[in-house]
Amino acid sequence: MGDASGKLTMKLIILEDETKATEWAAKYIRNKIIQFNPGPERYFTLGLPTGSTPLGSYKKLIEYYRNGDLSFKYVKTFNMDEYVGLPRDHPESFHSFMWNNFFNYVDILPENTHILDGTAPDLDAECKAFEEKIKSTGGIELFVGGIGPDGHIAFNEPGSSLVSRTRVKTLAMDTILANARFFNGDTSKVPTMALTVGVGTIMDAREVLILITGAHKSLALHKAIEDGVNHMSTVSALQQHHKTLFVCDEDATSELRAKTVRYFKGLSEVHNKLVEPLYSMKQPCTIKQFE
Ligand code: PGA
Repeated sequence: MGDASGKLTMKLIILEDETKATEWAAKYIRNKIIQFNPGPERYFTLGLPTGSTPLGSYKKLIEYYRNGDLSFKYVKTFNMDEYVGLPRDHPESFHSFMWNNFFNYVDILPENTHILDGTAPDLDAECKAFEEKIKSTGGIELFVGGIGPDGHIAFNEPGSSLVSRTRVKTLAMDTILANARFFNGDTSKVPTMALTVGVGTIMDAREVLILITGAHKSLALHKAIEDGVNHMSTVSALQQHHKTLFVCDEDATSELRAKTVRYFKGLSEVHNKLVEPLYSMKQPCTIKQFE
């Protein structure tokens, strides 16, 4: 699956700080949904992450909904991953995260949200059913993700197959240490396994938007876009995706080459046309082609 022109595109959008980066991503998601013109016969399918990075984007999307500019009534969502063993109502389950930080505040219908069940009696069957569900909705239009400092995408830890599908994964120690902050700093409370979409599942999305903020992600961003495709940095697989946007803040660019930063900053005027003008559901959208 590619974009209409069949060309590969990778964009790097560099914003001043995290607030501006997450807002830019929210504007982009807003424009994409409105441009798609979803309705009862035509749902917009969105892949979504958890984590600290997307929180600012979720806040903005809630604001757009409250202002009447955006509706999620005809949006279906698929989350990237979920811990194994945590019941849905556990405060740190990704299920709780999504409802507490986003779904409860917009008009999305619960039956249109899909989050893997880490307590399913047959985890392999749960993963298979998730893949089938994505397929039966016609595939994911836009997959939004974050990355770990080790370059993982969803829970595809270093060494994961770049053609992997949704499955059970054992978490790397780096990820357990990073996520301990959500479990009172106690690594023994962090689940050691998760269900996660595969790199191949993400690669099937018609478009991917990756949010990267903070200096602690700068090496991961360098490996994602300046090094070769490598399964030790699974996000680097996106170099071969048809249409990917990396949206980052200045801090995350500190390990990039100066000429890479200069090149992409030089394109910022062109890239900003993707979010300017900002469409609203209050007015009919007349733009036919959104690149
Ligand atoms: P973070 O997590 O947004 O909390 O940094 C991202 C990830 O680990 O994929």
